[in-house]
Amino acid sequence: MTDILNIKEAWKTYKMGSEEINALQGVNFNVEKGGFLAVMGPSGSGKSTLLHLAGILDLPTKGEVSIGGENVSKLSGKKQAHLRRTQIGFVFQRFNLLNQLTALENVMLPMMKPDKEKAREILDRVGLKGKYDRLPTQLSGGEEQRVAIARALANDPLLILADEPTGELDTTNSKMIMELLGDLNQEGMTIIIVTHDPMAAEFAQKTVQMRDGKIYE
Ligand SMILES: Nc1ncnc2c1ncn2[C@@H]1O[C@H](COP(=O)(O)OP(=O)(O)OP(=O)(O)O)[C@@H](O)[C@H]1O
Ligand SMILES: [Mg+2]
Repeated sequence: MTDILNIKEAWKTYKMGSEEINALQGVNFNVEKGGFLAVMGPSGSGKSTLLHLAGILDLPTKGEVSIGGENVSKLSGKKQAHLRRTQIGFVFQRFNLLNQLTALENVMLPMMKPDKEKAREILDRVGLKGKYDRLPTQLSGGEEQRVAIARALANDPLLILADEPTGELDTTNSKMIMELLGDLNQEGMTIIIVTHDPMAAEFAQKTVQMRDGKIYE
């Protein structure tokens, strides 16, 4: 099967003055098309750093990150940005919606070609039919996260990356968000989530553990 994401011997070293922090220490990781992976592990073990490399928000210090077969370090900055914008959908713990924009406008924001009809369809898909014109402050936390998931789907990405998507939600809303991600996966979307919550990880096909910048399966 095709790998959507392939990470080979990746290192990420942050320099803080004279100190070096090896956030990733030779990570090997691949995700097949249609996969749904949960990454767990203690605080500081490198989970977010891994997700940043997977989403081309950052580049490895050493090693390789390939998305859809393209080694991202070999691409120009412009091509990296294009790949990120068209192929990756991000979902964050704190939703990161723009508060002065409606649900519909938030979903249209990353679109290469703004398409109201499509944005409405995606909002319908995530269970927000009729709530197009609500501002984030007029939605519940669970609904805000649905808008964030709809925004992540706006450009029909190859891959959804979610960093603690249920971290700010109560149990009921967490379950609903994980069910939604599970349904999207059933429809063929490839998904990686980082989570501290074993209940959330249950929804994934597979869980890997991170410890000290390395992955254990
Ligand atoms: N921009 C940065 N500059 C310097 N050090 C960083 C930076 N980002 C992360 N780190 C360090 O890299 C290590 C891994 O951080 P990372 O954010 O990936 O952990 P995490 O597993 O996501 O933790 P958490 O569960 O708390 O979110 C930590 O030691 C962190 O302090
Ligand atoms: Mg983190």
